[in-house]
Amino acid sequence: MRKKIIAGNWKMNKTFDEGMALVTEIAGMVKDEYSGSAQVVIIPPFVHINAVSRMVADSRNIFSGAQNCSNHDSGAYTGEVSAGMIKSCGAEYVIIGHSERRQYFNETNDWLARKVDAVLKNNLTAIYCCGETLEERESNTHFDVLKKQVSEGLFHLTAEQFANVVIAYEPVWAIGTGKTASTAQAQEVHAFIRGLVCEHYNNQVADNLTIQYGGSVKAENAVELFSAPDIDGALVGGAALQSRSFVDIVKAMK
Ligand code: PGA
Repeated sequence: MRKKIIAGNWKMNKTFDEGMALVTEIAGMVKDEYSGSAQVVIIPPFVHINAVSRMVADSRNIFSGAQNCSNHDSGAYTGEVSAGMIKSCGAEYVIIGHSERRQYFNETNDWLARKVDAVLKNNLTAIYCCGETLEERESNTHFDVLKKQVSEGLFHLTAEQFANVVIAYEPVWAIGTGKTASTAQAQEVHAFIRGLVCEHYNNQVADNLTIQYGGSVKAENAVELFSAPDIDGALVGGAALQSRSFVDIVKAMK
């Protein structure tokens, strides 16, 4: 059975004290209120990762992650953070290729493939993001765009390596806009992605792949989204910045 994962991407939000308060609340609520089997991943800015990892170390189902990493191991790359450093801070996951990185930092599929390699080399799990813009959806080219993103970023991996990859489908037009893809739209894309993975690898690899949906997920739409057979969790932005709204999304995953 593939893992269900609810991840909260804080983006560039929360001072240290605010972040610690939020993690304390989330950990307490998850412990008291959630008996399901989903994993919860807290993805703060780099500078909070070590503290967050320590705070959740005793929890049975909460992990920490990073929002990005360098494709280099070490060296003269001022301002960059390596996957090895992230691992040494206690994190388990790294988001690669979030649309904000693709859009504002010009990260291409080839570039992201090297970041995925860095993540896997350090025994971390990559949460690889893909998603089309509104223009691409309206011109009906979204399946081509998604196929290119997924194949160029990931299909150089062996089937064994692919076991440490999660894919997040995040339509760019739904991120931070309050507009969510309908469950049918999301399910259609998730099934398409699983089909690509099945074609390139095999049925078992595809079956074991966790595919998260991201883009304005809230407690109100999570139950329906999670009822779809190929939606295995969520990558949450805005609603992850408050304990109540985030934990209510976690609770929507049975
Ligand atoms: P959102 O962000 O939930 O605020 O739309 C999702 C994301 O960017 O991962």
